[in-house]
Amino acid sequence: MSLLVVAAAGCMEQDRPRVAATDSTQGRAQLRVPSDSLIADDQLGRSIRRGRAILAATKDSLPNHVGNQLSCTSCHLADGTRPGAAPWVGVYSRFPQYRSRNAKINVIQDRINDCIQRSLNGKALDFGGRDMADIIAYMAFLSRDVAPPGEVMGQGFIKMEPLAPDSSAGRLVYAAQCARCHGAQGQGLANPDPNGVPRHYPPVWGPNSYSIGAGMARLRTAASFVRANMPFDRPGTLTDQQAVDVAAYVIGQTRPDFGPKALDWPRGDPPPDVAYPTNAASKKAHQSP
Ligand code: HEC
Ligand code: HEC
Repeated sequence: MSLLVVAAAGCMEQDRPRVAATDSTQGRAQLRVPSDSLIADDQLGRSIRRGRAILAATKDSLPNHVGNQLSCTSCHLADGTRPGAAPWVGVYSRFPQYRSRNAKINVIQDRINDCIQRSLNGKALDFGGRDMADIIAYMAFLSRDVAPPGEVMGQGFIKMEPLAPDSSAGRLVYAAQCARCHGAQGQGLANPDPNGVPRHYPPVWGPNSYSIGAGMARLRTAASFVRANMPFDRPGTLTDQQAVDVAAYVIGQTRPDFGPKALDWPRGDPPPDVAYPTNAASKKAHQSP
């Protein structure tokens, strides 16, 4: 991939060029994926392998906890190892952490359940259950060479200029570049290419997609994900503007609601691309003169 990747969480000035050796990436470890040969044939090794399988076939593995047709690896590509697709390498060392979305210290179980509830439109896992333990065992395995605070190159999503979106231009990009895999109605397809490897192309909107409370429903996150990773077979070929336009088009379509969304960012500090009002933000707006 020709794109150089920096963390979404990094705080670069907006006019800085997108290069790897910036302040926000200096001193970060390289993203290195540990070899499978390091997974022993013992209890822990079996847990790591089971965790990886759950993350890649989430609905089949956790039918009572998944409310759509996505797997964790629909967004965390290549079993959570792809730079610029919120990789899990190092993630075990990045928790506990404070998150403004709930204004609390979050442990890794909280973060996993966040994506289950919002991105998979599902029901939280038991903190102490076997499924949670196996998922964490895999994430800890991926993070075995990364000491806290767990910062690695390529974590999160690429940083992009915040461009103004044009979703009618995005509709054309979608039809030309995305519909062959994700379907004209965003519904997802099973193996659209008769000569291709059989596989599932996940829905990008509609009742089987991620909810409006998901990170991927935010414009900047979706644009960065798409810019670096889509089209899946030709990543990096869209311009920044095309990525922003198609992301705006996709997130503007209907998708499952997320009931408690108004409780997000209780201190009234949502990022600028959150598409729904929150209680605290509107209270703040009323209070300000
Ligand atoms: C629809 C896309 C999508 C799906 C599906 C998804 N995630 Fe995520 N995930 C995200 C996004 C976007 C972020 C980063 C959000 C942000 O910017 O804070 C994220 C962040 C995370 C993080 C924190 C990563 C870090 O670097 O701190 C973990 C852990 C995680 N997800 C686990 C999961 C698990 C487990 C599943 C399946 C149960 C899952 N995700 C499914 C989009 C997704
Ligand atoms: C060649 C097929 C293909 C094309 C073309 C393609 N995608 Fe994808 N896309 C995928 C696959 C496959 C995944 C899930 C990754 C996995 O399962 O490994 C995915 C995942 C996604 C996701 C996250 C999961 C979800 O369902 O929401 C989004 C968003 C997305 N693609 C948007 C786009 C956009 C926008 C375009 C057009 C610019 C596009 N894709 C073009 C195959 C494709």
